[in-house]
Amino acid sequence: MKVQPLTCNIGAELTGVSLAEAARNEDLFGAIKSELLKHKVLFLRDQDIARADHVAFARRFGDLEDHPVASSHPDHPDLVCIYKDETSPPDRYENSWHCDATWRDAPPMGAVLRCVACPPIGGDTMWANMAKAYADLPDHIKATIAGLKARHSIEATFGAKMPEDKRHALKAQYPDAEHPVVRTHPETGEKVLFVSGFATHFTNFHTSDNVRYGQDFAPGGANLLSYLIGRAAIPEYQVRWRWQPNSVAIWDNRCTQHYAVMDYEPCVRQMERAGIIGDKPF
Ligand code: SIN
Repeated sequence: MKVQPLTCNIGAELTGVSLAEAARNEDLFGAIKSELLKHKVLFLRDQDIARADHVAFARRFGDLEDHPVASSHPDHPDLVCIYKDETSPPDRYENSWHCDATWRDAPPMGAVLRCVACPPIGGDTMWANMAKAYADLPDHIKATIAGLKARHSIEATFGAKMPEDKRHALKAQYPDAEHPVVRTHPETGEKVLFVSGFATHFTNFHTSDNVRYGQDFAPGGANLLSYLIGRAAIPEYQVRWRWQPNSVAIWDNRCTQHYAVMDYEPCVRQMERAGIIGDKPF
């Protein structure tokens, strides 16, 4: 296996490896996992593997989860189908920086995404290194956000276009989660900036330290959250990947965000994702 870093801060391409083989080979899997911890997102080309191998490889990291809104493959319920084609809803959009499913109490540890079909040009995906984003924050911001928590909502995102009764039912099934704004990566120990597109507000900002009269510092909280969410957009933290059929990306969802670039309509783009269950951020 060869490892070629793609930028100075995030992402590496692996060559000379088959994920179908890695699904069955403990040492090879271990080598890939340690590269993932180092580079945060790994890319491979020409993985013409069976869906069962895709699932088996992802399962080596841990149990897999489905998605309450996106549908799963009929024969492989562990694969979420992110299809933009004649079967997808007409108003589907993808282009938002996010860390997957932070509306769960235990958001996914990572994901393995394989391209089934893609446009000849366009439809890239970008990832950002949120440990680097945290490390680069000015000291006074680090001091302000130490100990802050934020609410993460499926209702305000996937639920937003639903009729009210369905949106409320979704929220009843998946109540908003609360996570630290700065989490510690459970394997590398890195501190990570952990707010993205699903974060709606801080839950413990409005204290007597931050508010003197009425609401006077409350806009500061909203602006601070917006500033923090915007950090993923800094190019120095990013890698951008151009897809081909059978390209695969494996990412660590605990320390990255990603953004699927929606610049290719009306072309078809079909991706299949195995999401790996994670643990509660601390
Ligand atoms: C995702 O947001 O998990 C999928 C990204 C993509 O379709 O490129």
